Parts: sequence; structure tokens; C-alpha cells
Amino acid sequence: MTAQLADKVQRSFSRSFQTYNDTASQQAWVARKLISELRRAGAPDWFGTTFELGCGTGHLTRLLRQNFDLPDLYLNDIAPQAQATADADKAAFIAGDVRLVEWPARLDLVASASMIQWMEDPAHLLHQAADALETGGWLAISGFGPRQYQELTQIGSTARAPGLCTPEALKAAIDGPFKVLTVGESIRQSFFATPRDVLKYLRRTGVNGRAQKSWTRSTLAQFEADYVQNFGTSYGVSLTYHPVWVTAQKR
Ligand SMILES: C[S@@+](CC[C@H](N)C(=O)[O-])C[C@H]1O[C@@H](n2cnc3c(N)ncnc32)[C@H](O)[C@@H]1O
Repeated sequence: MTAQLADKVQRSFSRSFQTYNDTASQQAWVARKLISELRRAGAPDWFGTTFELGCGTGHLTRLLRQNFDLPDLYLNDIAPQAQATADADKAAFIAGDVRLVEWPARLDLVASASMIQWMEDPAHLLHQAADALETGGWLAISGFGPRQYQELTQIGSTARAPGLCTPEALKAAIDGPFKVLTVGESIRQSFFATPRDVLKYLRRTGVNGRAQKSWTRSTLAQFEADYVQNFGTSYGVSLTYHPVWVTAQKR
């Protein structure tokens, strides 16, 4: 990510921080899924030192706290407002770009929900996690796959996260240093009354940090017409989510 783009993403998430938690039910689903996948993979009840990347408003953090005994929990986010998540969940906060900050040493669990898609090179971050984990340490990561917001892509929007990856790519990136335990994906849809509600939703959840577009009256009208024509249903217009996840243990 260039410094300019990282700044844009940070500002986008910062602006949306207050409303994000009310609107991000898909991300809440993903966080629950990661916890159940950790359980299914046989994760222990206790992790000595845990580092959560891109904690945001804490969907995953709260569930980690509720489900596991975590004496030493560190949270990271590029948005400084996530300090509030750390305060609420009694964790230490490491502010900044996860690729640039100093990671805690000797980790037993690295967890992250709905963040890795912002990395231009997701595999690089996974290798960083491999280096930071103790032998036998656990990894639980989710991101989004290539069909994320496919409606937008199909009608020509450039608002696309750079690191969308398939479950196979996630698995391939960690196979070797890790024993891969579970891998999965899901296609889920939300419905909105109008395309403009989709845009408002994307603005509220902060996920349009890369949207280059500044709308004119006519490009907006064209966008709305194309959206309704291609993705209108009796429930409203659709927006597709493509969560992908992996759990693994460091060899
Ligand atoms: C979609 S939110 C997910 C938040 C939380 N993990 C959840 O599941 O609700 C993505 C989060 O990643 C953070 N983020 C994006 N790029 C980042 C980076 N380079 N370093 C650290 N955090 C980043 C954003 O600020 C945001 O809080």
C-alpha cells in the first residue's frame, strides 16, 4: 500500500468509526465464524500471548475474550480510535499500520477478522505472523474473496480492496510453516432498498477507502439504473459478501 493510500484508508475508517459497529452485521458473522472454526480445529482454552490485527470496534475481540482465557492480549489498528476497544476489552493497544509496527514477541495466537483484504500482499502479512508465532502457536484469519461486492465490480466500480483472495490462495500462502487446520468460504447477500442506500452503507462501514470516484449527477444516475437493472430483486438490490477464512498451527 502506498503511504497515500494507507492514509486514505485510515481516514475512511476513522470517519466511519462511530457508526461501523451498528451496521457491520456481516463482519459480526465472520467474527463468530472464526471463533467456531478455532473451536472446531481443537484450539485450547488458554493462549499466553495474543495479537489481534485490525481490531476495529472489537467484534472479534469481544468474542475472543468471551471464549478464551487470554492473560496477555495486544490489539492493533491503523485507526487510533480503536484504543477504545482496547480499553473496553482490557488489552494493550498498538496503533499503526500492522506492517510497520513492532509486534509483541513470542505469540501463541495471531487473530484477525475482515482486515487482510486491505493488504496489497496478504501472503507477506501471513509470513510475518509465522515469524512472530511460537512453535505450536495458532493463526485464525479471515478476509474477503474475489466475489466480494461483485455487483460493484460488474458495473464498473473501482472501489475494490487490493487483497481479495481465495481460500486456496490463503492456504497456499501458509502451507509449509503452518499446518492448515480449517479453510472455508461463504457467499452471503445483503439487500438494500436502493443503490444509493448501498453507497451510504459503504460510506458508513468505511469500506470505500479506495473508491476513486467523485460522482456527478449523470454518473450517479447511470450507476443507479445499471445497479437496479442487473441486481434488482423483490427484496431490493443485492450486495454480495465473500468471506474467506483459515485456521492453522505453526509447525
Ligand atoms: C472491516 S474492519 C474489521 C474490524 C474488526 N476486525 C471486525 O471484525 O469487526 C477492518 C479494520 O482493519 C483496520 N485496518 C485497515 N488497514 C490496516 C492496517 N494496514 N493496519 C492495521 N489496521 C488496519 C481498519 O482500521 C478497520 O478497523
